[in-house]
Amino acid sequence: MTEREPLWGGRFGASPAEAFERLNASIPFDIRLAPYDIRGSIAHARMLGETGIVTQEESRELVHGLETVLAEVEAGEFSWTLADEDVHTAVERRLKELAGDVALKLHTGRSRNDQVALDLHLFCRDAAKEIREGLLAAMRAFVDVAEENRDVILPGYTHLQRAQPILLAHHFLAHFGAFRRDLRRFEAAGEAANVSPLGAAALGGTPHPVDPALTAADLGMEPLANSLDAVSDRDFALDLMYACAVLGVHLSKMGEEWVLWTSSEFGFAVLDDAYSSGSSIMPQKKNPDAFELMRGKAGRLIGNLNSLLITMKGLPPGYSKDLQEDKEPLFDAVDTVLAMLAVLPEMLRTARFDEGRMSDAAGGFALATELADFLAMGGIPFREAHHAVGRLVKRCEELGITLEELPEDELVAVHPALSELPRELLTPDGSVANKRSAGSTSPASVAAQLERAREFLDHTERPSAG
Ligand code: ARG
Repeated sequence: MTEREPLWGGRFGASPAEAFERLNASIPFDIRLAPYDIRGSIAHARMLGETGIVTQEESRELVHGLETVLAEVEAGEFSWTLADEDVHTAVERRLKELAGDVALKLHTGRSRNDQVALDLHLFCRDAAKEIREGLLAAMRAFVDVAEENRDVILPGYTHLQRAQPILLAHHFLAHFGAFRRDLRRFEAAGEAANVSPLGAAALGGTPHPVDPALTAADLGMEPLANSLDAVSDRDFALDLMYACAVLGVHLSKMGEEWVLWTSSEFGFAVLDDAYSSGSSIMPQKKNPDAFELMRGKAGRLIGNLNSLLITMKGLPPGYSKDLQEDKEPLFDAVDTVLAMLAVLPEMLRTARFDEGRMSDAAGGFALATELADFLAMGGIPFREAHHAVGRLVKRCEELGITLEELPEDELVAVHPALSELPRELLTPDGSVANKRSAGSTSPASVAAQLERAREFLDHTERPSAG
């Protein structure tokens, strides 16, 4: 074997063409898998020694050499070239330089097919864990901001029309609920990733007496069940990317909401300078770029998931080089989500709310449902009550006043039962306090929701298993 020859070079008469080498190489992007690749190789080398496939001495030399390569990677001293083709080859090449000919035995009972699958499993397991931490930090921020602004009321919207007053805390708890589901999805994705494909070799297993359970246990994983499935499966990566895409959609919705809130038209919130940017031409501008990016990046997260789904579609069982296309969208999805989660908690904690603007917007016709419900609770069929209040709103519009300003005689003219109306019902506070149903925006319900949210965070142990 010459130095420049690819590791599969035995049957080839010529070196690869440069253009082909560039197309074929994954090392420019899969080099980030090096720590996982080496960790997997260490487990494999130990197993080779335990099972007598190599001697204990050879196994120790392999492990020692691999640890040196890992130290180089961690110190940023590991160098590679396109001729290395991929991370697996680069690590093996370096191992040979450091440990000598014993390195030629490392690949016994293994193929790059089970090796690359293992690297990706390990990457996804870690990524799911890291994203989970980011989600928990954001969820803590939701709860803290909700608690700090317990009395703040804003309009809830349907069709982006003011609908009913709600507590800002209720609003944040809605985001908490969505993130809680995201958390479950990432935990499930982390579990799906926690299977070791080592022992599958190329696709059908190996005549060497390897012990897949041993390597799996070394890595804290479950062993494979079927060698062909083990090298073909990328479902775990899809699971993670689906979780990223759904989280991306949640972040995008929040982004849109904050873009509205921070506009002069809404004026509900102001971002800290540290989380906004200016315009190069309009000196007055303070832009909510981070929230716009949260809205924008949902597209690429959905695209990344789509990209891998389409790569997988129609592939026959077994390794096909198409599978090399799994990495860039996966890495991009994880990096994108982590970058957004790194910003979100502090950005929310440092934002300021304009309580006055919010509560002004929450009054007025947003209280109309309250009136209809008041009549209906007095025995008037809801449809009739709805109609009567509709007439009131029309009357207000004619008089150019709000519901709160409507004189008693106008109220009674529309429905006699309105003579009994407690006037505080026509305030945002009264409306919110009047809610009874579980999970509602009433202060009592929101306090209970906050307590459950805190309990959930306190009982969710920070690092996940595996
Ligand atoms: N670079 C390849 C990938 O990312 C590694 C596996 C190569 N396997 C093979 N049979 N050529 O998928």
